[in-house]
Amino acid sequence: MLLYRGELEQWRRRDDLELHMTADAANGDWKGRIGVVPDVVGDVAPAADGAYAVVCGPPAMTRYTLPVLERLSFPPERVVLSLEMKMKCGIGMCGRCNIGSSYVCREGPVFTLAELRRLPPEY
Ligand code: FES
Repeated sequence: MLLYRGELEQWRRRDDLELHMTADAANGDWKGRIGVVPDVVGDVAPAADGAYAVVCGPPAMTRYTLPVLERLSFPPERVVLSLEMKMKCGIGMCGRCNIGSSYVCREGPVFTLAELRRLPPEY
């Protein structure tokens, strides 16, 4: 099921951005690309100069997309990740979201890659 169809169609019609969509696996409705996000990012190869990369999705997608962004010369300060998958209580009480001494629910859930590299590699 594809959410935000109206918004995606508005983005597709804009002249100031490119919309690239993919699905890991397709059902009968999907007519677009089939493949994983790291492959799409590598194929599209967006220019890193002055750009930000925003990565939001499951941990495996994030793990394999980061090296692609690095090859494309995105600096860690301009790679922004969402780590919402690490949260349980969301209010700093359960201690389930920590990466080292940082609590994702209180200090995130959005971090730059530069910030994460200062923490233990537990994300
Ligand atoms: S989610 Fe419980 S402490 Fe962060």
